[in-house]
Amino acid sequence: MHTLAEIFIKHCIVMISKKLEEELNKQINAEMYSAYLYLSMSAYLAKENLNGFSHWMKLQFEEEQAHAMKFFQYILDRGGDVKLEKINQPKLSWKGIVDVFEDVAKHEQYITGLINDLVDVAIQEKDHATVAMLQWYVSEQVEEEATVSELLDQLHIIGGKGSGLFMLDREAKSRSLSLTK
Ligand code: FEO
Repeated sequence: MHTLAEIFIKHCIVMISKKLEEELNKQINAEMYSAYLYLSMSAYLAKENLNGFSHWMKLQFEEEQAHAMKFFQYILDRGGDVKLEKINQPKLSWKGIVDVFEDVAKHEQYITGLINDLVDVAIQEKDHATVAMLQWYVSEQVEEEATVSELLDQLHIIGGKGSGLFMLDREAKSRSLSLTK
């Protein structure tokens, strides 16, 4: 016996495969973990009196939640089931601002790898709608990696301290969020 909603979905939507549904659910978890990691960095940076960078990380936390929600909505739109898993505890402390951004750079490279793997699965499953949806994330990762790499270069130039750090922290404070993409 099917509910009306199930009958509607069955006849109106090409449903997502179970394999892809599972992989997209894993990505919700990865994006939520990213959010958690950046929130942890935000707390650490506030303790270090780097309030501009702490603000920057808080926005990063919000951006990652938005990434997770895009996957959440997509799974529902395709008639799939959202399965939320436990979010692992992130690291709580770093050796300084350079250490923080080195971790961000490594983490974003890891996420890029996950997105690329997802595209591979969508192609294998011949799911063109998911391939198209994922292109947004492919571009987003290029942007994120470039932003972090530029910040990391600047932090290396100033040696992660002194008046240079004071200036960068002030700049970081002026970051605003655009979640409309
Ligand atoms: Fe959602 Fe920073 O990747």
